[in-house]
Amino acid sequence: PEIGCLSIVVLGASGDLAKKKTFPALFNLYRRGFLQSNEVHIFGYARTKISDEELRNRIRGYLIKDKDASSAHSEDVSKFLQLVKYVCGSYDSDEGFQSLDKEISEYEVTKNSTEGSSRRLFYLALPPSVYPSVCRMIKRNCMNKSDLGGWTRIVVEKPFGKDLESAEKLSSQIGELFEEPQIYRIDHYLGKELVQNLLVLRFANRFFLPLWNRDNIANIQIVFREDFGTEGRGGYFDEYGIIRDIIQNHLLQVLCLVAMEKPVSLKPEHIRDEKVKVLQSVLPIRDEEVVLGQYIGYRDDPTVPDNSNTPTFATMVLHIHNERWEGVPFILKAGKALNSRKAEIRIQFKDVPGDIFKCHKQGRNEFVIRLQPSEAMYMKLTVKQPGLDMQTAQSELDLSYKQRYQGVPIPEAYERLILDTIRGDQQHFVRRDELKAAWEIFTPLLHRIDDGEFKPLPYTPGSRGPAEADELLAQAGYMQTHGY
Ligand code: BG6
Repeated sequence: PEIGCLSIVVLGASGDLAKKKTFPALFNLYRRGFLQSNEVHIFGYARTKISDEELRNRIRGYLIKDKDASSAHSEDVSKFLQLVKYVCGSYDSDEGFQSLDKEISEYEVTKNSTEGSSRRLFYLALPPSVYPSVCRMIKRNCMNKSDLGGWTRIVVEKPFGKDLESAEKLSSQIGELFEEPQIYRIDHYLGKELVQNLLVLRFANRFFLPLWNRDNIANIQIVFREDFGTEGRGGYFDEYGIIRDIIQNHLLQVLCLVAMEKPVSLKPEHIRDEKVKVLQSVLPIRDEEVVLGQYIGYRDDPTVPDNSNTPTFATMVLHIHNERWEGVPFILKAGKALNSRKAEIRIQFKDVPGDIFKCHKQGRNEFVIRLQPSEAMYMKLTVKQPGLDMQTAQSELDLSYKQRYQGVPIPEAYERLILDTIRGDQQHFVRRDELKAAWEIFTPLLHRIDDGEFKPLPYTPGSRGPAEADELLAQAGYMQTHGY
């Protein structure tokens, strides 16, 4: 661990993301001993005029969710909240950021640090429209000035732009102020336990190495479903839609980890080099391989325009043009207000050649990695049905985390990623060229949707989405199996 004091600044401290994700993640890190009271201070910054105590009260409710929380837990929360101070200011005035700098420096002087360095982490829990001005203000007023080393880092959240052009503009604006190693672009899916497990699964298991290619795999699905709509955030969502909200980032990141070649090492640069190569090998998306949907009732939200064309559901097929994946459809599917809440990867294998059991009709071998809920991975395989007859049946080799790792807590994605930002590990963060390559894939389609050339099909909330999506899946060669 580095010596010296750490200042974590949460910009947008009174907003939803900060209250629901950032502060709870910081609290968990504190509780687990990763943030020591004697060397960390947390500064909330926002425009609202409130006191330290008011901010603490606002956060408290998100840290003590359970009414019956133990008194030890409440005590931990109170101790943690004592580390939180509030600074009020606007996002484009030097004044506000100068007072922030003054607060941080005062803390550094008292805590520090004749022998340690000062570390300053700025977490932008803000809309991207203010990123450039906030970054400018930080650069002008709040950089670490310690002679003894240390660093200044900034953490930004998606959406990083709306298309290739706006994303590149944003990247250049931030890039003029900060070096790439100082910028942490969060995609919280990269912090999920089973997403982090993908590299281990793929490259540490002899089982998978020879099978993971076009010779054996028929198709791959990466699926995200939610069983609730966009209530409460219709305004934001309508501007972005499901492709920008989920597919271009979360699902595409998962695709990269499933499809990439083995990196030279686990160094962040090596991993991200391989991810970029996959993205650059994705062929242009064909309209006939896209199904869009919008759930009935979506436009009832007063913040959504009556004639909104925004998809709340999308299924599409991506093709990766390289030696490993040529001919293997990657089906990405995401939807709001569907029949269940689930995120999973389904890798379906080809039929056994010369099948003497005639078993392929029962279903193919399939390897399923369930990211949430209830983390699990299981392999669907064919076995002999126990009994006197030579009957075959589908069964499962099942690794369910709840059973196998009973009592082992699985950290929240944000918790893990914030710890990485403090440790300076960029492995699970999106690099600028990766972001660019991701936008290159989706921008033409997104522009056609924005121009109204592509209309989403209506679907009933609580359903599987438009039936056309299942047809597209079948066309891509996915064989429905029991339980899907
Ligand atoms: C966010 C999206 O990035 O991810 C939300 O903006 C979505 O629309 C959320 O609900 C899903 O995250 P998780 O971790 O609950 O799957």
